[in-house]
Amino acid sequence: MIDTHCHLNDPKFENDLDEVISRALDAGVRAMVVVGYDVRSSIRAVEISQRYDGVYATVGLHPYEAERYKDDDLREIEELLKYEKVKGLGEVGLDYYRGPSDKNRQKELFVSQLEIVRRYKKTVVLHIREAFDDVFSIVQEFGDLKFIFHSFSFTKREMEKLLPFENFFISFSGMITFVKEVEESAKISPRDRTLTETDSPYLAPIPMRGKRNEPAFVRFVVERLSKIWGLEFEECREITEENARRVMGLG
Ligand code: NI
Repeated sequence: MIDTHCHLNDPKFENDLDEVISRALDAGVRAMVVVGYDVRSSIRAVEISQRYDGVYATVGLHPYEAERYKDDDLREIEELLKYEKVKGLGEVGLDYYRGPSDKNRQKELFVSQLEIVRRYKKTVVLHIREAFDDVFSIVQEFGDLKFIFHSFSFTKREMEKLLPFENFFISFSGMITFVKEVEESAKISPRDRTLTETDSPYLAPIPMRGKRNEPAFVRFVVERLSKIWGLEFEECREITEENARRVMGLG
């Protein structure tokens, strides 16, 4: 199992990071990707990836605070992207629910980061909220990059739009265990482009709802997905592991 998206850089893991990571390894999690959302959390993600085997990082500026960022912040993200264990840019994208009302500022920040990551040929982890169509049209301009639609929460209609693009990957979080619509989308998610994640400490899956989520719980996502696809757990684990290694170049 691979957790392609967790926030072990979140303050909620400050006091027991060693234990959280050993629990994940004991549960059979082979790799975890710690995802940044601003400069500070990106630096922390890199630090954590340097400290543990099997732990990788991505770095990037989330749209939530798009108005705040300066060129210096972009330069900092570019420096971090150069690390071997940094496997991608993210999470980046558009958020029309929580992000600043100035959509153009969000788009600008998103596009400038895509232009930077292009030079390093690393994968992009997308955060999208109420902005599917705008993100979809922007990413088509970057056909040379691979994109992960993180914590996929859209309907079958959106999933169908992604199917023709070989460079688009779909990652399911705990939502697959408790949102019917997401389950429906998973039925048609391409097997060779589907990934699993926790988005911990958020979105704990059933049967852990209400608890702090952690990478070990990615098991429940793989389990749910295997049932939806009608596969044995082991088969589903292998498929999603192989996809994650391929898209992010994990060792
Ligand atoms: Ni996240």
